Amino acid sequence: MMNQAIILAGGHGDRMKAAIPKPMLRVLDVPMLGWVIRACEKSGLSRICVVTGYKAQYIELYLNDRYRTAYQAEQLGTGHAVMQAEKFLREFEEGNTLVLCGDAPFMDQETIQRALQQHQAQENDVTVVTALLDHPQGYGRVLRSESMIAAIVEEKDATDAQRAIKEVNSGAYWFRTKSLLELLDGLSQSNVQGEYYLTDTVGLALERGGRAGVYCTENADVVLGANTRQDLLHLNETARQRVLDLHMDNGVNFVCTDGILIGNDVEIGAETTILPGTILKGKTKIGVKCTIGPNCLIENCTIGDQVTLNAVQAYDSVIEDAVKAGPFVHIRPNSHLKNGVKIGDFVEIKNSTVGEQTAVAHLTYVGDSDVGKKVNFGCGTVTVNYDGMTKNRCEIGDNCFIGCNTNLIAPVKLGKGAYTAAGTTVTQDVPEYALAVERADLKLKEGYSKKKLRSKLFPSDDK
Ligand code: UD1
Ligand code: CA
Repeated sequence: MMNQAIILAGGHGDRMKAAIPKPMLRVLDVPMLGWVIRACEKSGLSRICVVTGYKAQYIELYLNDRYRTAYQAEQLGTGHAVMQAEKFLREFEEGNTLVLCGDAPFMDQETIQRALQQHQAQENDVTVVTALLDHPQGYGRVLRSESMIAAIVEEKDATDAQRAIKEVNSGAYWFRTKSLLELLDGLSQSNVQGEYYLTDTVGLALERGGRAGVYCTENADVVLGANTRQDLLHLNETARQRVLDLHMDNGVNFVCTDGILIGNDVEIGAETTILPGTILKGKTKIGVKCTIGPNCLIENCTIGDQVTLNAVQAYDSVIEDAVKAGPFVHIRPNSHLKNGVKIGDFVEIKNSTVGEQTAVAHLTYVGDSDVGKKVNFGCGTVTVNYDGMTKNRCEIGDNCFIGCNTNLIAPVKLGKGAYTAAGTTVTQDVPEYALAVERADLKLKEGYSKKKLRSKLFPSDDK
């Protein structure tokens, strides 16, 4: 028996005034659709079909062939959206199908699995996931007869009395796949919006003598959807606080959470402090006893223990223990800073390895380079890695001392212990322990400025 999921992501979401489909709008650093897919996968559902429609190309691009899609050319409602996945449904008619909204990111594994258990135990044709909300506005209301569900009525179609009902439809349902196929055939557009409502499957199943049930979840967040930018902000605030709480439970320290945004997949060790204005994204992993911030942006980095980063932007890189970097540092992809490296202000590192305890203190660009241990970079060093056609690498041995304003024209290699004099442009390899000096002779012109400065030096001479 095969259980599977359909995620509805074809709607326009007019009120967002977005140029991309609503499910592609982000909560923390992941599109809402990504949250929903993750909930399916955590629940063990790997067979997933996403219904696309409005600006489908954005969703196709994001899914990158990882999941099936069905295209809904015209947005005629949630029931119509599921009809577009008919081919997908017919491939495995035995089993159950979960239908989820792509704009309700907090649906979780526990709700999905418990609802399925109940759906199977009660042998339902459809089981609706519901929740009790203090402010049910905007959601479909659940009409009950005695203890059973009777129907779902949309806010726009509801009477005043029905609008007072606080039990709402989450937009998530488990269907027996065979029943779903039959029920879809019976849907019509006879409602205020002229749409095929998936919600009508409940009343229809009952009319036909089938079974419809309700799984009312205690975690009311799972129903939260976003129809407006205000809703989206609310989802972001909820998600942000949840992540912060988890990290605090793990011993992470926050003195003030202003401007701190941490993605779901970020891991942080105990006794690390995250300071205001810091954004941690993607698969970032941070060790213990670090100080990150203020104002860092870190994406997909692995960071060791006791690291200090102040006003650093770092992407797709590895930063080992006891590194100190900042302020105003840019670590670009594919960089590896080894233990104890020091990076100072206005330094950019790109696609380079920097060896243990090397210091790059100020105003320096290290790109496409392999740097050894205990190297000292003078202020204003540039690895000239691009000749307009190709990128080339520099190799800098252990214990090198690079004078201020050195240009290293790649490809070039400094042997271990090599020195360069300030202002040198290095165009050939420097052997171990050698000094490279590239300078024109200094010329002195005695008294040169006296004439120019006369008015300043001798104001009384001015006529
Ligand atoms: C729907 C439910 C409502 C429920 C709410 C929960 C119906 C008729 N109503 O209302 O009972 O409380 O979700 O959030 O189902 N979509 C398509 N194609 C379409 C229309 C929608 O793919 O033609 C997708 C949207 O992209 C969205 C999801 O279906 O991800 C829900 O659509 P939306 O228009 O937001 O439904 P609601 O009016 O919120
Ligand atoms: Ca909605």
